[in-house]
Amino acid sequence: MKLLVTGGAGFIGSNFVHHVRRERPDWEVIVFDALTYAGNRANVPEVEVIQGDVADAESVDAAVARVDAVVHFAAESHNDNSLHSPWPFVQTNLIGTYTVLEAVRKHGVRLHHISTDEVYGDLELDDPAKFLPDTPYNPSSPYSSTKAGSDLLVRAWVRSFGVAATISNCSNNYGPFQHVEKFIPRQITEILEGRRPKLYGAGQNVRDWIHADDHSSGVLAVLERGRTGETYLIGADGERDNKSVVEMILSLMGHDATDYDHVNDRPGHDMRYAIDASKLRTELGWEPRYRDFEAGLAATIDWYRQNVAWWKSQKEATEAKYQVLGR
Ligand code: NAD
Ligand code: DAU
Repeated sequence: MKLLVTGGAGFIGSNFVHHVRRERPDWEVIVFDALTYAGNRANVPEVEVIQGDVADAESVDAAVARVDAVVHFAAESHNDNSLHSPWPFVQTNLIGTYTVLEAVRKHGVRLHHISTDEVYGDLELDDPAKFLPDTPYNPSSPYSSTKAGSDLLVRAWVRSFGVAATISNCSNNYGPFQHVEKFIPRQITEILEGRRPKLYGAGQNVRDWIHADDHSSGVLAVLERGRTGETYLIGADGERDNKSVVEMILSLMGHDATDYDHVNDRPGHDMRYAIDASKLRTELGWEPRYRDFEAGLAATIDWYRQNVAWWKSQKEATEAKYQVLGR
């Protein structure tokens, strides 16, 4: 198997590359990545990295021609950025996915498309239902709407052109190598820098946390055993409200759990996400390995403590961006 991983120098893409190299050592893995602010070649030192833009048809075509399958992680991934500057999201998430689809169609290559639970919109805090693969799409932000659009493109290319594609929609990931713009690494690194964590609004919003290693094992299961044209949800029953997560980070780092600040809320802020992953569990026999969120969070904190050089250069620019947003 020769596998092309778009966005493989980012947080989850690089985790998936390491997962595949561990679990399928005979596979050849090539990364295709624009190395934006979120990508880092050093995350995947052991594989070939083609630096290219997924919206650039010529370089995507040349890379896809070399492989048997593509796993498409490349995306602009941060909601706050999409609220400030939506265009890169349209370009990468929509035009980029279209470009990948045209290349896999031309070369008859298998595609697995990586998406998010945010395409389904949000749930009320007391809603007994969770997201299922056939929950109607109802995205809220430029980020989630461009991801929703990319999923619809994939579905259309399967039905109209017979492209052999699957889709997975996962909940919020945590773990090492996540960019410091995201919630958990931002709070950990704020504390390491001697500042206070920043909670949007009242902090009631709920996210369904899953360790990135479990996301990777779910993606590999779908790539190998998923049925063409099907959507699989990946989640590990990890619902927590943001306030509890900030308090847990502070306690694990030896601070008083109330040592944080409330800052301006995110416009259009989704209240709650929750995944029902029973299709992935029953049909493909997938199970998460990380069942203890507190232990996973403690290990993640240790990683940021020990890898200051990895995140330090991004930290100042990230906080300058948040200052402009007032958050
Ligand atoms: P990330 O921002 O850490 O990484 C994105 C990667 O894509 C980077 O390496 C970046 O350089 C690359 N990239 C961006 N634009 C590109 C372009 N035009 N051409 C080629 N490469 C480009 O993101 P992440 O958190 O690792 O997310 C990866 C994927 O998983 C995304 O598709 C995202 O929507 C999805 N996802 C993320 C989460 C989460 O919690 N982070 C949850 C569910 C789904
Ligand atoms: O649900 C999957 C999605 O999870 C992925 O598709 C996205 O790529 C990923 O970024 C993530 O989106 P969120 O917007 O949920 O993640 P973020 O880390 O930005 O924020 C998580 C929650 O924490 C959210 O409710 C906003 C809040 N937050 C965030 C930051 C950065 C804060 O309270 N304070 C902060 O400083």
